[in-house]
Amino acid sequence: MGTNMIRREAIKKILEAGVQAPSGSNSQPWQFHFEGNDTVAVRMLPELDHPVLNVRAWGTLFATGALLENILIAAAYEGWKISIVLFPKADDRNLVARISFIAEHEANADGGTKELYEAIFKRATNRKPYGMEKIDGVIRERLLAAPSEAGIYDIALKLVDDRGQIETVARAVSVNELVMFRNKRLHELFMQELVWTEAEEHERQSGLYLKTMELKPQQERALKLFRSWKTLNIMNKLVGAARMIASDNAKVYAACSFYGAILCGTEDVDIVHAGQVTERAWLAATAMGLSFHLQTGVNFLAARLETPEGGKIFTVQEAELIRGAYETVRNIFQAGDRFVPVVFRIGRGGEPSARSSRKPPIMV
Ligand SMILES: Cc1cc2nc3c(=O)[nH]c(=O)nc-3n(C[C@H](O)[C@H](O)[C@H](O)COP(=O)(O)O)c2cc1C
Repeated sequence: MGTNMIRREAIKKILEAGVQAPSGSNSQPWQFHFEGNDTVAVRMLPELDHPVLNVRAWGTLFATGALLENILIAAAYEGWKISIVLFPKADDRNLVARISFIAEHEANADGGTKELYEAIFKRATNRKPYGMEKIDGVIRERLLAAPSEAGIYDIALKLVDDRGQIETVARAVSVNELVMFRNKRLHELFMQELVWTEAEEHERQSGLYLKTMELKPQQERALKLFRSWKTLNIMNKLVGAARMIASDNAKVYAACSFYGAILCGTEDVDIVHAGQVTERAWLAATAMGLSFHLQTGVNFLAARLETPEGGKIFTVQEAELIRGAYETVRNIFQAGDRFVPVVFRIGRGGEPSARSSRKPPIMV
């Protein structure tokens, strides 16, 4: 193998770590282009993300931020000096980053970098109920240090651990399901994203794999019935099915030690930074043996309401529920005039029952 080939193989290995990042319904909305031997362009593919939730491609930008954070950590671990320029071309928004692999030096990663690198492959969404004990001291401080560890100072990460506040956020977050199981369009999109069997998961390597939803057997059976909008609609009228699902979920969401939130601006670069900081916090949590569950439904639905299509998608009552829930989240985290793209819950939840698959990095 020539040196260029060796270099490409090394870069591919770093990108492999990159694509382990979380993305909305595991959409993996990114693509890579070699520009010469030492530069890789990272393009986002917003059309792969949820057409209603992905307001202004924020979900895609956030996921791409998480991808870049993994790449920075993996490069440090593999002994590469790299530089990342965000949005290098003013007229090409989908070109999110250009990464230059500047020099290879001795791989002598410190213990902290090794720990984070290993966490990239261990990290997963855990939708189980977690223990509710208070976790304080070093662990809390390390989670709060995520922005400064990522070297990003225009993003705030906040945590709450008061039981009342956790329960309030959990109820607000569950408004996502309340609306999703009442709204025909959202229901249809959710059902398209669900992956029902292990075989389908292996084939698609994207989407929301049922086994990662951590449902009880009777909930799984109900979800199968509710694939049909007609059935769900009748059950909503007869027994308030959506209300029951949301209320069950709120109990699971409240089972945690912390709720966290990211506060940021609404420029593209802010959302990429928010993804980077969240990934840092998630990897730190993983390295400390904690479970993590990112939640964005209510936040992105609230943003969708502010766009011209918003008024067409939701009923007046749904719009009120979404606005109220997002306001609650903003108040609890004292967001002021800042945007809250995501909240997340953290705690001791053990191992998730299943993990989602990944496609290899797509090189074009
Ligand atoms: C922008 C974004 C939004 C997400 N929103 C949610 C959410 O609202 N609820 C949820 O359970 N998971 C959410 N996730 C987690 C993804 O579903 C998850 O990362 C993906 O399915 C891959 O699984 P993994 O995290 O276990 O690797 C979100 C992830 C991203 C990046």
